[in-house]
Amino acid sequence: MTYRICLLPGDGIGPEVITQAEKVLKALGLQFEFEVGDIGFGAYKKHGTPLPESTMESILKSDATLFGAVTTPPDIPGYFSPVVRMRQALDLYANIRPCRSFDHPASRPGIDLVVVRENTEDLYSGVERIEDDGNRAIGEMIITRRASERVSRKAFELARAEGRHKVTIVHKANVLRQTCGLFRRVALEVASDYPGITADEMLVDTCAMELVRAPGQFDVIVTTNLFGDILSDEASMLVGGLGVAYSGNIGVKAAVFEPVHGSAPTLAGKHTANPIATFLSAVMLLQYIGEAAVAGRLRQAVLDCIAQQAVTPDLGGTLTTEQVTDRVLSAFEIVPERK
Ligand code: NAI
Ligand code: MG
Repeated sequence: MTYRICLLPGDGIGPEVITQAEKVLKALGLQFEFEVGDIGFGAYKKHGTPLPESTMESILKSDATLFGAVTTPPDIPGYFSPVVRMRQALDLYANIRPCRSFDHPASRPGIDLVVVRENTEDLYSGVERIEDDGNRAIGEMIITRRASERVSRKAFELARAEGRHKVTIVHKANVLRQTCGLFRRVALEVASDYPGITADEMLVDTCAMELVRAPGQFDVIVTTNLFGDILSDEASMLVGGLGVAYSGNIGVKAAVFEPVHGSAPTLAGKHTANPIATFLSAVMLLQYIGEAAVAGRLRQAVLDCIAQQAVTPDLGGTLTTEQVTDRVLSAFEIVPERK
């Protein structure tokens, strides 16, 4: 079986971490066919758009996509976020970000949670306008039953598949009565289809506080787009931050896996970009395409390197990007294969 994987390096350190991930994927003993697509500011300079049609086609015909990061250029009229556009155009409706404690001083212990964020609507609907000679700006927060239903179902299905016991529905329905009210109502309806899983609810401000105070209480969090964007960044800091934070954007026709960090332009070319967030994104990709055993071995190899402090300077180590890759590959070789 040959898997078709689309690689989207992007800008800044994006190409560096994607090159390392490609090296790792090629060493796992699986068959891959890679196709590289342009995205970001570099793509804009080359094609006049940050998200060329050919890139969308590559994503759609691949089994899964691994994306690096893009740079947002200073104000260019007509420029748009290719990341938001890609998520909306491909209907990648669920953004999934696991946060599990690492054996490393930068990580707090006892955390094993997943943030499931709605990924296509809310205040990121892109419906904004200016009135009153530029003195009044209005954005539309759009919440639909359809999007709330499918992201909630995704959260409960994930909980069931991973043997998790609780889903916390996060909203602000006490103030945003219509929008968050609809999300909350639909999520609770979906919850009633999963009697074995506890459905809990929490206001978003309380959740932000509780994540810092007692993060071990959370299992799965499901929430709307903007809240999920913020809470998942917050949660990632509890377990080591951007160098290790990874995510998947899941739709019906496509799936795009990506590190949470941006293009870190000041690190580009310095060989110090941490590739681990991208490796863990690749682990998620492997799980998605059905290679759970290899995914588990790669994950273990990465965890071993983190525990041995075989990491880049952002995590207190002394290795280069390429040296971390070498260490992960050696660690992978000695992780026993599971039956
Ligand atoms: P950033 O995530 O690129 O960097 C934030 C900080 O973390 C910097 O100090 C950076 O050096 C460090 N950092 C990030 N990734 C790292 C890695 N792999 N290893 C070691 N250190 C790492 O966010 P920033 O600086 O706000 O944005 C830079 C550019 O990236 C901007 O143009 C922004 O729009 C874009 N961006 C793109 C994203 C994406 O492609 N999904 C997400 C976030 C930002
Ligand atoms: Mg964010």
